[in-house]
Amino acid sequence: MQHDTRIFGLGESVRGMNKRGYLYESWCSDVPRQDEGTKSMYGSHNFFIVKESEGGKTFGVFFDTGSRVTFDFGYTDYSDICVSCQDTGVVLYVITADENRGNESVLMNITRQFRKIIGQSYIPPRWGFGYQQSRWGYRTEEDVRDIVNKHKELNLPLEAVCLDIDYMEDYKDFSVDKKKFPNMKSFAEELKSEGVRLIPIIDAGVKLLDGYEVYDEGKSNNYFCKKEDGETDYVAGVWPGRSCFPDFLRADVRKWFGSKYKNLTDLGIEGFWNDMNEPAMFYSDESLAAAFEKLEEFKGKNLDINTFFDFSAVSGSTFNRLDDYQRFYNRAEVIGKGEKALRHDYVHNLFGGKMTQAASEGLKELMPDHRTLLYSRASCIGSHRYGGIWTGDNNARWNHMETEIKMLPGLNMCGYLYSGADIGGFAEQTTEDLMLRWMALGIFTPLMRNHSAWDAREKELYRFSNKATDTFRDILNLRYALLPYIYSEYVKAAVTGGMFIRPVYFDYENDCRSLECQDQLFIGEGIMIAPVYKQNENGRMVYFPEPMIQVTWKDGKYETKKISKGDHYIRQPLDSVIFFVRKGKAVPLFKPAMNTSQMKNDKYTLLGKGKSYELYEDDGFTTDIHLEGRVRVLR
Ligand code: GLC
Repeated sequence: MQHDTRIFGLGESVRGMNKRGYLYESWCSDVPRQDEGTKSMYGSHNFFIVKESEGGKTFGVFFDTGSRVTFDFGYTDYSDICVSCQDTGVVLYVITADENRGNESVLMNITRQFRKIIGQSYIPPRWGFGYQQSRWGYRTEEDVRDIVNKHKELNLPLEAVCLDIDYMEDYKDFSVDKKKFPNMKSFAEELKSEGVRLIPIIDAGVKLLDGYEVYDEGKSNNYFCKKEDGETDYVAGVWPGRSCFPDFLRADVRKWFGSKYKNLTDLGIEGFWNDMNEPAMFYSDESLAAAFEKLEEFKGKNLDINTFFDFSAVSGSTFNRLDDYQRFYNRAEVIGKGEKALRHDYVHNLFGGKMTQAASEGLKELMPDHRTLLYSRASCIGSHRYGGIWTGDNNARWNHMETEIKMLPGLNMCGYLYSGADIGGFAEQTTEDLMLRWMALGIFTPLMRNHSAWDAREKELYRFSNKATDTFRDILNLRYALLPYIYSEYVKAAVTGGMFIRPVYFDYENDCRSLECQDQLFIGEGIMIAPVYKQNENGRMVYFPEPMIQVTWKDGKYETKKISKGDHYIRQPLDSVIFFVRKGKAVPLFKPAMNTSQMKNDKYTLLGKGKSYELYEDDGFTTDIHLEGRVRVLR
């Protein structure tokens, strides 16, 4: 690499938009305590673009493989890129820019070519762009009704409530605990009549329990991953305790698992989140036995500092172990070789993505005329065709909000247009100001969800001061006012292989200042945002590569002013949302509503200097998506 060579991409990964200077590993991982040092996240997204300095080369590289890949981007030697793969087949794509690309930047052109190779991104139903409220800990129908009512009372828009593992009976996939949700069907209907949907979770591990239909079917049909002998089901512990893992790499298993969603679609459910599908394993029978044996060694001993450390490490030692991933096998169709048993670690990165495929194909059979909402935790290149992703268990920290800003462009490059982080942080104790800032970012991400862990501070939008509730209402109103624009820009990006969220340098790749701009984003064609992500800062420096119109949204009203090209300090008080309309563009603002089912899309105003906006519209559900004949010109 030259002194200013830059590397962009790698989808779900920590650190900057420019990935140079660190070692990343593509290995789908359950990483509840992620930080700047984390090498692997939940997804495996092996695509990046190398951009040499002016006059140099720019090219994209995609390593197509299901096993571990290590990306040493100037970590061992700041001048070298070294990519190594585990010894399974790798198909390597090198993509250079198309000479006849017109006005398109080299970065965008390479990305578009890559996206053409990997296929069109998932498009959720329109309601998937509404605001989702979630928490691990909504235990009963009453809990959920209470959340919905509070939102209604306080005029806080609400599109959906996610049901975490609490809704299941003993954490069994596709079951509903009748004691907590006595009549899920009528409850789902009741909520839907108000425009609110339920989104239950489904986990990868199936509880090992004789008499439980899903387990019995999986066992008798040999649908679960096997040990080396090819006969014994592999068993590991997850939420329901000892569990088996459907072999999602097999088409027949995907068909079976996908058909199970019927248990819930029959109850009126139209959206799901798939979790723990890296797959996460808290322990295996083997690692647990080894841990207990080890603990015995310490019994009765005087534990000095070294032995005490060894002792403390034992219980955590069973979590997501490599040797456990090497203890079981997947059967998959290998090109030219028929179906083969493959040790799991060689195909590890495909597992979660294949679960998404199973769900997506199953849901398509169950509801052929209807797009359904689907997002997953684990993913790989390819599964972006079947569903979106949320970015897993983040923390209520300012630098995790910053991480999201920097991760979104990489996710979009890799086809994950439908993505977003747990707003305000999943774990740890959030604060009012972090929630306000993160919501102001969240209204621009296609997946907008406020989710938290059972032991984290309650953070529904009415749990903070009254003033904050008012601001949250305002922020949500802006989301709904922008929703037709967001939906329209999303569909256009998906259909054309574009990026719904882009860094500034994708449009200004020859502008050195833009190339350094790692915390500003273009949202669709017309909007730029520059979020404040530091506590107690009431504004920030923003770089404008072109003149723009600043829009200040506050108290349900907006004000606009012109901003010239260059650097400006932009004040962004906590009770407002600031965004910018790009040069020559128009952005429509519609009348907000409590959810998408109540939106009319008739009255609008156009922001910005552009004369018109081409709005893509459909019924919000159709599976037949095309731009022709669906665009209304707003003037
Ligand atoms: C995992 C998920 C999290 C969920 C929890 C319980 O940690 O990432 O979102 O709340 O499991 O199901």
